[in-house]
Amino acid sequence: MIPSVALLYVILFIQCIGLVIGRPLAVRDDPPPLLLTTTQLAAVEARMIEQSKGSWELGTAAQSLFEFEYPSFSVYGDNFISLPRSLPKSQNVSKVFAITDLVLQTRPPGILSFMPDEAAGDPPSLGVSMLFANWTTRSPSATNSSGYAAAIIDQLNYSLTRAPRAPNNAISHRADQVQLWSDSVYMLPPFLAYFGALHKDLGVMRAAFDQVRLYRDLLFDGSVGLWRHIVLGNGEDLGHWSTGNAWAAAGIMRVLVTINKSSFKDQLAAEQKTLEMWALEIVHNMWKYQQPNGTLLNYATDSTTFADSASTALLAAATYRLATHFEISKPGQVNMTWSLSAAGRARSLISRSIDSDGWLTNVVDPWNYPARGTRSAEGQAFVLSLEAAYRDYKSSVRVGTVEV
Ligand SMILES: *[C@@H]1O[C@H](CO)[C@@H](O)[C@H](O)[C@H]1NC(C)=O
Ligand SMILES: *[C@@H]1O[C@H](CO)[C@@H](O)[C@H](O)[C@H]1NC(C)=O
Ligand SMILES: *[C@@H]1O[C@H](CO)[C@@H](O)[C@H](O)[C@H]1NC(C)=O
Ligand SMILES: *[C@@H]1O[C@H](CO)[C@@H](O)[C@H](O)[C@H]1NC(C)=O
Ligand SMILES: *[C@@H]1O[C@H](CO)[C@@H](O)[C@H](O)[C@H]1NC(C)=O
Ligand SMILES: *[C@@H]1O[C@H](CO)[C@@H](O)[C@H](O)[C@H]1NC(C)=O
Ligand SMILES: *[C@@H]1O[C@H](CO)[C@@H](O)[C@H](O)[C@H]1NC(C)=O
Repeated sequence: MIPSVALLYVILFIQCIGLVIGRPLAVRDDPPPLLLTTTQLAAVEARMIEQSKGSWELGTAAQSLFEFEYPSFSVYGDNFISLPRSLPKSQNVSKVFAITDLVLQTRPPGILSFMPDEAAGDPPSLGVSMLFANWTTRSPSATNSSGYAAAIIDQLNYSLTRAPRAPNNAISHRADQVQLWSDSVYMLPPFLAYFGALHKDLGVMRAAFDQVRLYRDLLFDGSVGLWRHIVLGNGEDLGHWSTGNAWAAAGIMRVLVTINKSSFKDQLAAEQKTLEMWALEIVHNMWKYQQPNGTLLNYATDSTTFADSASTALLAAATYRLATHFEISKPGQVNMTWSLSAAGRARSLISRSIDSDGWLTNVVDPWNYPARGTRSAEGQAFVLSLEAAYRDYKSSVRVGTVEV
């Protein structure tokens, strides 16, 4: 394990040599090492697709497919904002469209959300994929792009003008009562941010940032520097649910990177710094509670709760995304070594937790957050997001064969 800051000096040194001897730099071109085999990852993905039923599960599955299978079109890739009108054949994004087409075709008439749901905040998790599907017109009969566009406008309209709001203006995660769940940070703000970026709509982009801020205002617990799970309404859950903290960190990363790729990057410079701080805060404070074998517990700060590998995977993914963001945007300025070591232990734990059918084991029940479960669609997606985040981190560091 070599500290990333030390690596930066190595890079600078290599670059100096490169300049002196006038030869192209030796940049890694072999694929970075994955702890899981291609066959295992294919099984993880297949189980994810079989198991994803809820709106947020489908939205999360689609997001992980972007990151893992079609990285150039994901929020972390080069073509996220400058979308081609027609996709190259080799990048047909068919696995994402299988989800979005199903959502569009089964959407009952008269609803405003992408899917019927008791949660106001979960269907918007599909928003990034729906925007992508609308924007990259395929053959008109296949895409029904007018159907996509109308669904997007309805969902946006619902989220921004119809969904109940907390007294501080945070958009409720529930439809039937005002209630904030940390989960929502992964579901709604990234959709708002992508809409704002594609449509160059500063108001909607600001709403993405503001919703993160308003959620943090009510969920952040300064005594441990972590987010509570659920506040307001009936059925609060004031514990530091690990998946909720990971949802928040990963959602913040998506909003941050979307802003940074948009035409508002200069205008919203202060907001980006704030988002960096908020992501770092969660990542750093969560890993303090990592168990010796690399796992997080279902409630990070509650040692009586069980080991949960789903949140462990998503937090590790967010850690690599944050480290990559710092590598690219402010090399050498932020020392992530400690959190990256934790993420490395987490990743190794995850690789030991995939069973022979491709299921991630030791997971919380995603439909009943205090309970141990057996199968988790979102957990499957987090494994793909983690491997994609690690792969992209390694290539951002660009140091040949040095192991990080
Ligand atoms: C999409 O691409 C994959 C792999 O490149 C291919 O197997 C599949 O047939 C393509 N699907 C469509 C709808 O073109
Ligand atoms: C749908 O995509 C087209 C570009 O293909 C774009 O002009 C239009 O504004 C998009 N609609 C929505 C709601 O994003
Ligand atoms: C296209 O979308 C419209 C509006 O949602 C719907 O009425 C129509 O059946 C759709 N067509 C296809 C081919 O899916
Ligand atoms: C948003 O919803 C309201 C109330 O349902 C409706 O009056 C309005 O036309 C909608 N706006 C758009 C842009 O669809
Ligand atoms: C990791 O440690 C926890 C206790 O801290 C235990 O409950 C869990 O089963 C262990 N996981 C693995 C995969 O060994
Ligand atoms: C956005 O990213 C670029 C590099 O892609 C970086 O130079 C810039 O500092 C970033 N902006 C902020 C405010 O972090
Ligand atoms: C970065 O942090 C690690 C662990 O916290 C520490 O050992 C190392 O010295 C730090 N590196 C720099 C350059 O400050």
